[in-house]
Amino acid sequence: MTTLYEGAFAKLNLTLDVLGKREDGYHDLKSVMQTISVRDDVEIDIGTGKPWTLECSEEGIPCDERNLAWKAAKVFFDVTKKDPDGIAIRITKRIPSGAGMGGGSADAAAVLRALNRHYGNPFSIFALAELGAQVGSDVPFCVVCGTAMVEGRGERLRKLPDMPDCVFVICKPEFSVSTPELYKKIDEVAIPKRPDNKAMESALLAGDLGKVCENVFNVFDPVVTQEHLELNYIKSIFNSYGAAAFQMTGSGSAVFAIVPDFEFAAVICSMLRDNYPNVFIAKPV
Ligand code: C5P
Repeated sequence: MTTLYEGAFAKLNLTLDVLGKREDGYHDLKSVMQTISVRDDVEIDIGTGKPWTLECSEEGIPCDERNLAWKAAKVFFDVTKKDPDGIAIRITKRIPSGAGMGGGSADAAAVLRALNRHYGNPFSIFALAELGAQVGSDVPFCVVCGTAMVEGRGERLRKLPDMPDCVFVICKPEFSVSTPELYKKIDEVAIPKRPDNKAMESALLAGDLGKVCENVFNVFDPVVTQEHLELNYIKSIFNSYGAAAFQMTGSGSAVFAIVPDFEFAAVICSMLRDNYPNVFIAKPV
């Protein structure tokens, strides 16, 4: 039996635009995504000689074929036609669920990377990302990591220059948002403001953090904030302590701020920690 270890890194959406509904029921997106240092740890035993198992350190997460990490392993072995003779997956969770930080997708991506490495890299990283699209919309980005323009359902990726050095503070409130319902809701309203993805790309190319911050925008943010005014409270703390940008990530409910250094981040964290146990400080990865 061999044990594989792989880090599963969370993502933030620096921009997120929903372009329209597709015939398959999904939506076409255009989003600049960024990997951050908040991570789960994934371990995989290969060759247990027993039926597949999955354990997770957090309660309430499905530990069977519904888990994206399990689905990723299934897709990998189906496509490669390899037989692992039993696997056991263990996930130590730190990425909060229902946050818009891609936690389940990061775990799935980590499984794909670990298995690909173990079997001598039958897939290039972009072919592996394509495989990930069968598992979930955010999985391809979570396979590749870094900074990227993500389009289509999430399967079209273009790497962008690394984000300029900065620190993120991320706060996940108690409530969660149903992603399918949020997509339904956005179909029913006119989108009054959209991110300028071209300007974001230019800001990244120039390595200009100020311009990156000016262009942080997620079309889901106003829709969710309207129903959960609590997000305004968190943003007001970010704002009053000098954050250069603050916005919800993905379909929420986590909101993040971009600050210049750890000192700023620590002060903001201490202001939020009393009310919010799920506050993180992270770096772009
Ligand atoms: O693919 P994933 O499981 O992340 O998507 C969750 C749900 O979010 C989908 O079932 C769909 O309702 C919605 N979605 C969408 N368009 C996308 C991504 C997700 O409509 N590009």
